[in-house]
Amino acid sequence: MTQTAPIIQSIEKSVKDVPGWTPIDQLYSLFVLAVSTTGLKGDILELGSWCGRSAIALGLAARLMKETKVMCVDLFPEKSDWYENKDGSYSFKVTIGDKLFDAYHEQTVWKEPFERDIVPVYQRNESLLETFRQCVANQSLDDIVTPFRGDLALFSKEGPQDFKCKLAFIDGDHSYEAVCGDIARVEKYLVPGGWICFDDAFSSYEGVNKAISDKIIANPRYSFAQQFTRKFFAARFSG
Ligand SMILES: C[S@@+](CC[C@H](N)C(=O)[O-])C[C@H]1O[C@@H](n2cnc3c(N)ncnc32)[C@H](O)[C@@H]1O
Repeated sequence: MTQTAPIIQSIEKSVKDVPGWTPIDQLYSLFVLAVSTTGLKGDILELGSWCGRSAIALGLAARLMKETKVMCVDLFPEKSDWYENKDGSYSFKVTIGDKLFDAYHEQTVWKEPFERDIVPVYQRNESLLETFRQCVANQSLDDIVTPFRGDLALFSKEGPQDFKCKLAFIDGDHSYEAVCGDIARVEKYLVPGGWICFDDAFSSYEGVNKAISDKIIANPRYSFAQQFTRKFFAARFSG
């Protein structure tokens, strides 16, 4: 019998140089949840990828399951897309095709986390999409993990029309309206028995908390609604 390294160590090693906010215990939970969908049809959908930390954990699970891909939907802002608000916090605006997308508008990024976490990412490369591609390729996951530049509304219009997913990880815009809209869009793709899960659940984002309470916990179409780690929540969709 071949002795293999514990997966949590592989995840840790794979994301060691990938900037982002998703902690290792959560990446491990995400991985396990993804693997639990073995046998279900469909791929994995991620909304909010940044440099690829969570996408890599999902990609490692997809590689193990075989025949599963990971679609990563993000606005992938460039360095020049960020601007400072009057109160010193930051937001970004991205133009894709002829459409302008406003992000971190309601919940802006404060100066200190912006300078600490976001500025260094652009010192590496002014294109976030390029950094994402490099991080994914460094783990040889580029044949499994695919970026889509846009929001979920654009993905619904321009993404593959027959797309289905067995796991959706939501970590994009954290406002109530955005999360409710994203849940509604994801439901069109989720197969019965599949999971919807969220970062920043029941932590400091009121919009995320209320959207999960109203649209998932109060909805009989979901079962097994459970907080997995400090800020990671998942529920199973019964269709
Ligand atoms: C917290 S980061 C994601 C972190 C990532 N999951 C990780 O593991 O490091 C949030 C991401 O959501 C993206 N984003 C924000 N609003 C969005 C929207 N409306 N549609 C798509 N992506 C969005 C941002 O560009 C950013 O990359």
